[in-house]
Amino acid sequence: MSTFQQHLRRHPFVIAGHRGAAGLAPENTLASYSLALELGVTMLELDVHRAHYADGRADLVVIHDNKVNRTTNAKGTLEEFSIEALRQLDAGDGQSLPLLSEVLDLLTLHTQTTGRITALNIELKGEETADLAAQMLSQTFAFPIVISSFEHFKLTRFRTLMPQAPIAPLYHRYRSDWHTTADDLNACAINISAKMATQTRIKKFKAAGYAVFVYTVNSLQEGQQLRDWGASGLFTDRPDILMPLSLTNP
Ligand code: G3P
Ligand code: MG
Repeated sequence: MSTFQQHLRRHPFVIAGHRGAAGLAPENTLASYSLALELGVTMLELDVHRAHYADGRADLVVIHDNKVNRTTNAKGTLEEFSIEALRQLDAGDGQSLPLLSEVLDLLTLHTQTTGRITALNIELKGEETADLAAQMLSQTFAFPIVISSFEHFKLTRFRTLMPQAPIAPLYHRYRSDWHTTADDLNACAINISAKMATQTRIKKFKAAGYAVFVYTVNSLQEGQQLRDWGASGLFTDRPDILMPLSLTNP
């Protein structure tokens, strides 16, 4: 088992594959995660929504939007589809929408076959995802998992279910109450948009004891600057471009 803190010590600058390697393969598909892993990312990022099988059982599916329009060959909201029907859709290059459990299996296999530990950032996007995520993550994994969300109430719920799990509130713009929120959540990291990332803010978050991850960064120059400013890592659609910035301690 590896904790998220150990992972950050081993990787002083984490390169996280955003939706896998979304700039190179269809986002949030197993092909995209496999490619990101091949490129050596030290974290994978994905988005989850809750959906239902025809018999009513719920599960977490990996997709960014609450509609299938943008990323598949169909149209409609997720709730209009059973999981069986969602799995028939083409999410690009013949890929299907993965279940979270499939990505967990992929990472487990990756750890076993390569000996490399790659962290996972699960972003709670859809409604009522916290309980199901906590249920699925109650088993032990060989890689660290951090839970993030823009909707901090989902993280509050998750925290009540998993008192020890690494949590990272997401911010698309600066909020002056960030410290209270992060403290109340007992967060380990703060995940921020590139547009709100300044050297002063990154230093302030770090000084308060939080790791800082920035999304979505696809240029080497921007990544270099964030690393110089003290960010803990970044989310990128292009791990092929950003991986040279990865710092690894033996
Ligand atoms: O978790 C970082 C990033 O994924 C947040 O934005 O919209 O790409 O999920 P989004
Ligand atoms: Mg995301």
